[in-house]
This record gives sequence, C-alpha cells and structure tokens, in this order.
Amino acid sequence: MTHALKSPDSSRANSKALYGGTSSRRITVRDIAAAKERGEKWPMLTAYDAMTASVFDEAGIPVLLVGDSMGNCHLGYESTVPVTMDEITLLSAAVVRGTKRALIVGDLPFGSYQEGAVQALRNATRLVKEAGVGAVKLEGGERSAHQIELLVQAGIPVMAHVGLTPQSVNAYGGYPVQGRGEEAAQQLLRDAKAVQDAGAFAVVLELVPAELAAEVTRILHIPTVGIGAGVECDAQVLVWTDMAGMTAGRVPRFVKQYAQLREALGGAAKAFAEDVVGAAYPAEEHSFH
Ligand code: KIV
Repeated sequence: MTHALKSPDSSRANSKALYGGTSSRRITVRDIAAAKERGEKWPMLTAYDAMTASVFDEAGIPVLLVGDSMGNCHLGYESTVPVTMDEITLLSAAVVRGTKRALIVGDLPFGSYQEGAVQALRNATRLVKEAGVGAVKLEGGERSAHQIELLVQAGIPVMAHVGLTPQSVNAYGGYPVQGRGEEAAQQLLRDAKAVQDAGAFAVVLELVPAELAAEVTRILHIPTVGIGAGVECDAQVLVWTDMAGMTAGRVPRFVKQYAQLREALGGAAKAFAEDVVGAAYPAEEHSFH
C-alpha cells in the first residue's frame, strides 16, 4: 500500500505536540521530556542525507537519527561495525543542513566510545561541533553509564540504546531478541535505570518482548523509543529504508512497510532507459534550439 505524503494534521488539539504541533523552531530535549509528561507518543526515523531528511522534516517527523545503520543501508557494509566517525560526521552534517525543525541525533559508531568516557566526550564533541547535531546516541546500559554521565555533564544530550545493541553483532552471533527469561529481564531493567540515572534524555529499546518494554516505559521518567519492542513504548523508530520499502530482500518481522520505493525507483530507471534507447527522450520540450 502506498501512503501519500501528508502534512501533520493541524486540527490536532495540542499545538506543542512533537508530531502535529504548530511550532516551527527546532525540537529540543526539553520538548521530548514535556511529551513524556503529556503521555504523548512520537515517531522517529533514521536519515543519512540532506534530501531524504528534508522530506521527513517536512512530513513533521520530530526526531531524526543519523544511525550507524547507515553501514548496512547506505554505505554497503554488512553490519554497523565498520562505520567510522568521519562517515557519521559527514552524513550528520548533511542531515542537519537538510532540516529546520527535527532534533538531529548523531550515532556514536563502534569503537568511538568503548575505550571510556574521555574518548566518548572527544567524539561526541566532534559530532556536536562539526556536524551540528542536537544530541548523540550510544549503545549499552550499565556498561556505558560512565560515558553518558560525562557527556551529559559536558552539556551533550544523550539518547541511550539497550536491549539488542547491533554493534555487538559479533558477540551475539546474530540479532537475537533480548530480555527473555527472568535474569535477562532483570538485567534489561537495570540497564534502563542505569542510563536514566546517568542522565540520558531517552532510551531506545531494541528487540525486547513487548511486556518487558511496557514495564520499562512505566517505570522510567524518560521516554522509551521502541524498535521491535511493542506498542507501549513512548516513541517508535524505524530505519527509513525498511519503513519505505527501499531495503533489498527480507526485512525484520517488526518492520511495517509504508511504501514500495525500491520498486518505484527501479521502475523509473527502467522507463528512463527505455526512452533513451528508443530515442523517446529527450523530446522536443526537453530540447534547446
Ligand atoms: O543505527 C540505527 O539506525 C539505530 C536504530 C535502529 C535505533 O540504532
């Protein structure tokens, strides 16, 4: 099913709403905190370039993540592991330039914060200064609390990420659902509380049973951003290429596809090619004399 690009519904009651609100200034982490207090749900998408980001910004998506999923979706790597600070910084700057309203969150890639808080601060500072992002994201619960604390003390808002953390794909040996069983569930709760206590303004819950994600969402005063974590999370995020049917092959079960862009774009390329070989393009109206 194809969904036409719609503007946020201006008839929505709350003018401050993250999605559908009327304010055109850039969203801040204070707006995100206020949305949790109002019990308001909000959408987040990934973006890796200025043009796509501008489409999502115009559609009213309040938070865009320049995710290290760019490794798989944009740069042709097999996982997020090879993504570098240079790549994230370049593409985050493009996304910031392409947007006016969305809060832009830049992902800290594998190897850019695991050494400790000082390394995390150096790389997060680079993303804020060189790319202009409004916040950064990093993976890990208790194990990343020191890093989160120092960044927050330095004035850099942090979105945390617990549950399945794709940068650990080599340790997991795949992408398994997390938090199943009593012990794993307790660890996930500890991780979520640890990142909140460290000062994170939001936390991504990836591939977590819906009941556990609902419990975390109830307990925390910061918003949870679910991906494969059920409907009770405060926000939902999808990788845009999955959401819009641009990804080749199978997508994870939790993905809902709202368009079939891969088919549409391939069709446009074929139609162009056929016009060129058949001398139907350029036509008179495309030519100069
Ligand atoms: O890199 C990414 O896109 C992410 C989201 C899936 C949350 O971390």
